[in-house]
Amino acid sequence: MKLILLGPPGAGKGTQAKRLEQRYGIVQISTGDMLRAEVAASTPIGREAKAVMESGALVSDDILVRMLAARLDQPDAANGFILDGFPRTVPQAEALDAMLARKGLKLDAVIELKVDDAALTDRIAGRFTCAKCGTGYHDSFKQPAKPGVCDVCGSTEFVRRADDNRETVGARLAAYHKQTAPIIPHYAKTGILRSVDGMADIDEVARQIDAVLEKAR
Ligand code: AP5
Ligand code: MG
Ligand code: ZN
Repeated sequence: MKLILLGPPGAGKGTQAKRLEQRYGIVQISTGDMLRAEVAASTPIGREAKAVMESGALVSDDILVRMLAARLDQPDAANGFILDGFPRTVPQAEALDAMLARKGLKLDAVIELKVDDAALTDRIAGRFTCAKCGTGYHDSFKQPAKPGVCDVCGSTEFVRRADDNRETVGARLAAYHKQTAPIIPHYAKTGILRSVDGMADIDEVARQIDAVLEKAR
């Protein structure tokens, strides 16, 4: 199974990708997570990306395309993957088409999570993540079962992202509408684009995605 999860910041791409990983035994490839790891390790890419990410703008296509090509060559991607946060521009979508064609691979589905802009700000401002295993939580919508303890790994340390504040969210949404939304017609043309109601609760969104994937298989 090879798919793209598409949607604005805070739409639930990471939340649903983690579930799909478990359910289908395929890997989540999150370019945001990969860039945050580069920033944390202060690599040349990380040093270039840090300020751009904190401003809410997009990092250059050139960096992202090279990063993704290298990631798709890793053995764990051979079983299938969920792209989360890539492609994010028309040139990235075209580069992905070329990469997959070279490998003789085809996408099974592109799933768009539709969420109103007003809901996204609250989702992003309330988000926190387990520092050890990366499981995502939310102050109002998804607290750990035992307060302060990660459901998955038991860690008591949590982190909030540097770009998760009300000021930066506006810039991230603007980048989505201007640069990323234009890839939707690109995939609509190929007939594999499906939309789900990302405003529903987390379990219901997961059910809708499963229904789409059952049909695509
Ligand atoms: P990235 O890390 O991809 O961030 P994003 O697209 O802004 O998306 P988020 O991770 O914020 O949201 P999500 O959809 O994963 O939502 P989540 O599941 O966490 O990118 C960060 C930056 O890196 C970019 O701004 C850019 O600078 C750079 N970058 C990355 N890729 C790039 C690329 N390809 N090209 C150029 N630059 C790139 O959910 C959010 C919250 O809501 C959570 O707390 C969750 O618990 C909660 N929630 C989820 N679903 C629901 C629901 N149904 N109901 C209620 N709450 C929910
Ligand atoms: Mg995410
Ligand atoms: Zn954890």
